[in-house]
Amino acid sequence: MASSRLHITERGKKEGRKVPLVLLHGYPFEGSAWEHQLRGLGDEMWVVAPDMPGFGKSAALTPPTTAHVDQYAKAVADWAKDEGITQLMLAGHSMGGYVAFAFARKYPEMLHSLILVATRPGADNEAGKEGRYRTAGAVEERGAVAAADAMLPKLFAPEAYEKKKELVERVRAMILRQSEEGIVAALYAMASRPDSTHDMSEIEVPTLIITGAQDAIIPAGEAPSMQAHIKGSHTVDIPNTGHLPMLEDPEGFNEALREFLNANS
Ligand code: MLT
Repeated sequence: MASSRLHITERGKKEGRKVPLVLLHGYPFEGSAWEHQLRGLGDEMWVVAPDMPGFGKSAALTPPTTAHVDQYAKAVADWAKDEGITQLMLAGHSMGGYVAFAFARKYPEMLHSLILVATRPGADNEAGKEGRYRTAGAVEERGAVAAADAMLPKLFAPEAYEKKKELVERVRAMILRQSEEGIVAALYAMASRPDSTHDMSEIEVPTLIITGAQDAIIPAGEAPSMQAHIKGSHTVDIPNTGHLPMLEDPEGFNEALREFLNANS
């Protein structure tokens, strides 16, 4: 990796706020996927949205074919340590959730609380991995547009995809901004990620699971098993949203976060 230094966007940093809410975006996005949380919660708490390695303005992992979720987790831990942060409230969306599971495994002492958004603990099966390698090949050939074409229609609840044209276009533009090497590295990292199912019973911190009721990529039906494995966790299902509840229903999403964080700060 060229540099473990992550580019971050933050709001609400001030004296006395020691435990930031760190929001890890999914694939193939960037920190601005959390624009509504930065804006909507930044008056109440310290909110940090890093660009994960290879996305936004953060340098990519090299070579992409050996990228691993542990490296993404280490980049977050290194950034936090450089900042003198000893504990964080960690939220991970989808691939960001895979990284959050890796973070919980490797740096449990740094975890204050955990929010798992539209994600799952399981690893890819062989067909899933093959699909990732095919997409990586297509991205190397055609660029980020190959990732956008593959994902866009599945990202939103059907009604939002039809009606929220401006949001769909914004998300498309976000994907098109991402570098080929960052996208390919993330595909390899997702394909090689370990199964975190059994690690969930080791999670000792307050945990919230958020699902999009109409998520076609990671169905909300994944949540009950996660909730059963993580002691004391609970689930909030955001109605009428797909894989991007934080963008499709920012108010509902922020309310769920706020309630959880206020109860557990
Ligand atoms: C994501 O949103 O991060 C991806 O859809 C996750 C995945 O492809 O497994």
